[in-house]
Amino acid sequence: MCNMPQVAMSRSAKVKGPTTIKGSLSVPGDKSISHRAALLASLANGTSTIKGYSSGADCAATLDCLRRLGITTEIGNGTLNINGKGMTGYGASINPAILDAANSGSTMRMISGVLAAQPFVSIIDGDASLRRRPMNRIIEPLRLMGAEIVARDTSFPPLTITGTRLRSIEYSSPVASAQVKSCVLLAGLFAQGRTRVREPYQSRNHTELMLPAFGVKVQQDDDWISVEGPAELLPASYTVPGDMSSAAFFAAAAAMLPGSALEIRDVNLNPTRTALLEVLEQLGAKIERTNLSTIGGETNGTISVSSDGLRAETGGTMIRGRIIPKLIDELPMLAVVATQTEGRIEIRDARELRIKESDRIRKIIDCIRALGGRIEEFDDGFAIEGPQKLRGARLDSAGDHRIAMAFSVAGLAASGSTEIVDSECVAVSFPEFYDVLKTLVVSDAA
Ligand code: S3P
Repeated sequence: MCNMPQVAMSRSAKVKGPTTIKGSLSVPGDKSISHRAALLASLANGTSTIKGYSSGADCAATLDCLRRLGITTEIGNGTLNINGKGMTGYGASINPAILDAANSGSTMRMISGVLAAQPFVSIIDGDASLRRRPMNRIIEPLRLMGAEIVARDTSFPPLTITGTRLRSIEYSSPVASAQVKSCVLLAGLFAQGRTRVREPYQSRNHTELMLPAFGVKVQQDDDWISVEGPAELLPASYTVPGDMSSAAFFAAAAAMLPGSALEIRDVNLNPTRTALLEVLEQLGAKIERTNLSTIGGETNGTISVSSDGLRAETGGTMIRGRIIPKLIDELPMLAVVATQTEGRIEIRDARELRIKESDRIRKIIDCIRALGGRIEEFDDGFAIEGPQKLRGARLDSAGDHRIAMAFSVAGLAASGSTEIVDSECVAVSFPEFYDVLKTLVVSDAA
């Protein structure tokens, strides 16, 4: 509905296998961290400088929303300047403000925490995929804080948010979701007093780590994370590290394709994001972490990945419970890895996958079966017994970037040619994915 870059869903990509990958690469700036840096910078008093902002369409959607709220930005030399106007600086040139989060759940769920405190009405919508994703998880806490929100069919976008003076709350989120946690913390910056939030299992903690860089104190007692409002944010210079969730496709490919070895530079190694690496190590991959540094509370570094074959534990490897939020975005890739691993891998407690950019459990099942693989479906996960011989096929990504990338990597393991329909959707988080992949493939189909 807004005039912003949309991801075209027309092209398909072809990948040939079986093959080996080798080389050194870096990946675009972390998507989760970029959204947060843009949102916090927009609320700071003055200009913040962000290096390495994600090149993905999701993060462009956040910037587009901010510009429609009167925030100006400049881009040049790999640096993004965001001219924050302070906590009361947003304005709507038309009333209500009309915002488009495109494909981005993070944009919609996090910015809603800020919109809930504005003295005007906003309508925020998204594409067909986002319109299917539930928003009651943020509507509930924001209503408890006093916001007035109307959603289609009680939970779905578009959301009409009538901003108000918010009150602080203590909120125990029923889901382990960093988007929900961040939405409540952002709203808490506007509310009088202390806003506290906790979740059943820890999710990615980028908001908590970044707030101090913008001058906001964050308290953590046991599982509770809290901020004191009304807050004032200072502008910051922030460098966004490479996205672990983008690096994951290559790390997993190097671990599962025999004879492969990769080095991935300048990637975020925040422990709330690296569980896939730990699982790959548990399966026998060799992963070295070097050049470690801490920037803005985030641990970053280089990883080198290789393996002599992957093997599950005797009796099978079960992945469930508190590790799930720490590799939720990597589960499509892990499913592909499981097909190339000796033994059984079972993933449970991952029902959240059904409400991502697509029903990812459904897509994983369909794509693995289309490649001739075997997989057992559960309501909250799947199980795969490997190793399996996959053969190339035509796969529908359903416009889901992580499905497209995970099954492009599957195509490297499969014999023959694999075609990924709607492959352009990779631009949501990693527009350079296929260009990078081309530089790493060293041998063609046997
Ligand atoms: C994100 C949190 C996760 C993740 C998404 C990005 C974030 O979603 O799947 O890709 O940036 O906070 P949930 O909060 O819904 O678990």
